[in-house]
Amino acid sequence: MSLRIGDEAPDFTVETTEGEINFHKWLGDSWGILYSHPADYTPVCTTELGRTAQLKNEFAKRNTKVLAVSVDSVESHKGWIKDINETQNCEVEFPIIGDPGRKVSKLYDMIHENASTTATVRSVYFIGPDKKIKASITYPASTGRNFDEIVRVIDSLQLTAKYSVATPVDWKVGEDVVISTSIKDADIPSKFPKGHKVVNAYLRYTPQPNK
Ligand code: BEZ
Repeated sequence: MSLRIGDEAPDFTVETTEGEINFHKWLGDSWGILYSHPADYTPVCTTELGRTAQLKNEFAKRNTKVLAVSVDSVESHKGWIKDINETQNCEVEFPIIGDPGRKVSKLYDMIHENASTTATVRSVYFIGPDKKIKASITYPASTGRNFDEIVRVIDSLQLTAKYSVATPVDWKVGEDVVISTSIKDADIPSKFPKGHKVVNAYLRYTPQPNK
């Protein structure tokens, strides 16, 4: 099943390193990240999970829960977590799904048969509090993901969910954003009292509204 932006994130109940989880209940009102790892005891995944653990406070500030999935068992994950904590100088305190039956991996289209018939690629799904998929990215197993980008995407999604703006190229928190084309010029001053700059009819900047 291929999942697209705007689709409901499929629900599931699974065993994880933190006990049984029903995905939608576990998410509650939070934003969520569900991301896949090709296999346990592998180098790139070890660094990615370590970085996730180090970013615990950044995810918490953004009301975002993180759930990892790897196609090995929960028992295997528990042994691997000791290595991750030791080598990446962190404490993995978020759940990792045991998915030897590929239930979640298949549900979220994380196994790309032409890459591998058994291991997942590196998928990331960003899920909103309404349980809808807001964004997704996919990397091959050989390319570790950029977690600054993952956090940046959450910032953009949360900002654009609240205000009629979009985030331009390479945008980072604190930088100017662009005003949605649906907003008429005449309505800009009342909607964006911090000021604005008109470049042309469709490119209008304003300071980040919630900063
Ligand atoms: C890794 O995590 O290092 C990895 C896993 C599967 C294939 C290639 C790299």
